[in-house]
Amino acid sequence: MVNYLKIISDSEKISDGMKALVSEEMHHGIEVSNLAVKIARELGEKDEFCDRIAIAGVVHDIGKMELTRHLFSKNTDTLVIEHIKYVRFHTEYSYKILMQAGYPEDIAKAVYYHHENYDGSGYPDNLRGDNIPWMARIIRACDVFAALTSDRSYRKAFDTKTAIDIMIDEVADYDMRVFLAFQRIFHRENGFDREMLRNSVNELQSRQLELFIKEAGH
Ligand SMILES: [Fe+2]
Ligand SMILES: [Fe+2]
Repeated sequence: MVNYLKIISDSEKISDGMKALVSEEMHHGIEVSNLAVKIARELGEKDEFCDRIAIAGVVHDIGKMELTRHLFSKNTDTLVIEHIKYVRFHTEYSYKILMQAGYPEDIAKAVYYHHENYDGSGYPDNLRGDNIPWMARIIRACDVFAALTSDRSYRKAFDTKTAIDIMIDEVADYDMRVFLAFQRIFHRENGFDREMLRNSVNELQSRQLELFIKEAGH
């Protein structure tokens, strides 16, 4: 199995700041992928679906690589403002990158819609309820949890229990079946082992990381 995380950290072509961002995005993708597979299994999905959501999870934010590259070509003062301004476009970039790379359309669509909320308050298309692809609804909950439990430039990571409480406060964002499955697994596993979620990859997941290397401009 090729170790793409190591390729990034050993690269002499990529600056340290960019390396940190790329490797964080890779770990985030792995975490969302692992969580999404757990939820899909809990909801009774078959292996074929679980493999597809495993792929979608790893690459769901691949479009952020385009933003990251763009930001690193500029001076740092405007970085945060620019990032906030353009971050919404990452779902569209992700979709385009995946279609160009020959990914199946259902995977690209799930990625395109991974910021849609069940109550219609998400983006890019304000889709509501079951109009949001099923795969995207599962990824949505996993993505929010992974984001809340990670450090951000503007705040520290929340612990996993607080993250679940925050999600309960905004429960209208999620498909209830997905959210209940998420909570069931969380309690059954006594919280999640985040080190494990962020680092353990199987062959299928690992292969998807190659796209990050390409998009990082290696
Ligand atoms: Fe995203
Ligand atoms: Fe994400």
